[in-house]
Amino acid sequence: MGKHVASLIIAAIILGITTYAQDYNKLHFQDCGSKSADIRKVDITPMPLYNPGPASFTFIADLKRPITVVEVSLDILRTVNGIRLPIKCYVVNGQNVGSCTYPDLCNFLKGLLPELLTPENCPQALVDIGVDCTCPMDIKPQLLSIIEQPIDLPDATQTAASFLASGNFNMTVTVSESNPSAPRPYGCGKVAFTVKQKK
Ligand SMILES: *[C@@H]1O[C@H](CO)[C@@H](O)[C@H](O)[C@H]1NC(C)=O
Repeated sequence: MGKHVASLIIAAIILGITTYAQDYNKLHFQDCGSKSADIRKVDITPMPLYNPGPASFTFIADLKRPITVVEVSLDILRTVNGIRLPIKCYVVNGQNVGSCTYPDLCNFLKGLLPELLTPENCPQALVDIGVDCTCPMDIKPQLLSIIEQPIDLPDATQTAASFLASGNFNMTVTVSESNPSAPRPYGCGKVAFTVKQKK
């Protein structure tokens, strides 16, 4: 009798885990209190994302106020086989990685990609939105429309962000103008997505 109960419980746990472990087949997005942006569309394909591999990114938002020094906070929850693994803020080689506040996105990105983010090599997609790869970014109010921008996902296992290499993720991205008198947050989005390791 006890044996049957035990196998029932085990079956229920396995069922629970496999139901929870469902991969996302599209990006889930939810606004979480944007004050200065009207976010109209966010998407990334394919879903699941393959790491490393090509992807395509769409972001359409009406930016209602200028934003100069961009502060970004990330809160990342990774779920693997139904087990929740909250990601902390780590410091790797002097850089913040994970669920951290990045007080100045522009300088952070320049530190990561010093060759690419120069005025000479500035990607056209950034030039098109009035960003010339100098800091601060100084983004003007505009209808920001990035449609199916190709991006190459690098092999996350080779980077400090190796936790991003596979799993289901719930991530809250909060963007604020670092000037404390600006309304907060400028924009906030909650996304959920799946990353699989390319074999
Ligand atoms: C993760 O996001 C999905 C899709 O929006 C949602 O159904 C789920 O409840 C979220 N999980 C957590 C722990 O927030």
